Amino acid sequence: MKKEFTTTYNEFESFRELSKIQSKLLEEAYHAYLNAYAPYSNFRVGAAVLLENDKVITGFNQENASYPCGMCAERVALYSATAQFPSIKIISIAICCQTFDLSENPPAPCGMCRQVLHEFETHNNDQIEIILGHPKSKILIFDSCSALLPFGFDQINLKRNP
Ligand code: THU
Repeated sequence: MKKEFTTTYNEFESFRELSKIQSKLLEEAYHAYLNAYAPYSNFRVGAAVLLENDKVITGFNQENASYPCGMCAERVALYSATAQFPSIKIISIAICCQTFDLSENPPAPCGMCRQVLHEFETHNNDQIEIILGHPKSKILIFDSCSALLPFGFDQINLKRNP
């Protein structure tokens, strides 16, 4: 039997259409993006994580001459947030990428970062909003990581049968 997935998201033309919180978070991601350490790929990414205690934790991609040592902006921000506030829920993440064609959709997080977001959603038993954009591009908002990662792998899959 053939089955189908559909994904829904909201599209906006500018920061002005977002809520104050969403717009501030995306601005923080943009500032992080400006500081990205990407001398090898020249592809900058910035991320800003909003926690339930209203703190915003930012990160940007960290590259290395030994390429596999590098880390995506999203995971830098997410792990930094949970290291500083281990028991505080993640509400939202804004991601700002270098966008070559500003009329196109902004780039979405890589598979590993989606899997990490899925882990936090499962752990917190709540959705994490994902905001993608750049001051000069359109903005996409997903209510949950599951819109970007169907069939995420989680702890239930690790449970052994009795
Ligand atoms: N990158 C991110 O920071 N996030 C993603 O979701 C995709 C890729 C970074 C990793 C590397 O520094 C550069 O972008 C090119 O892949």
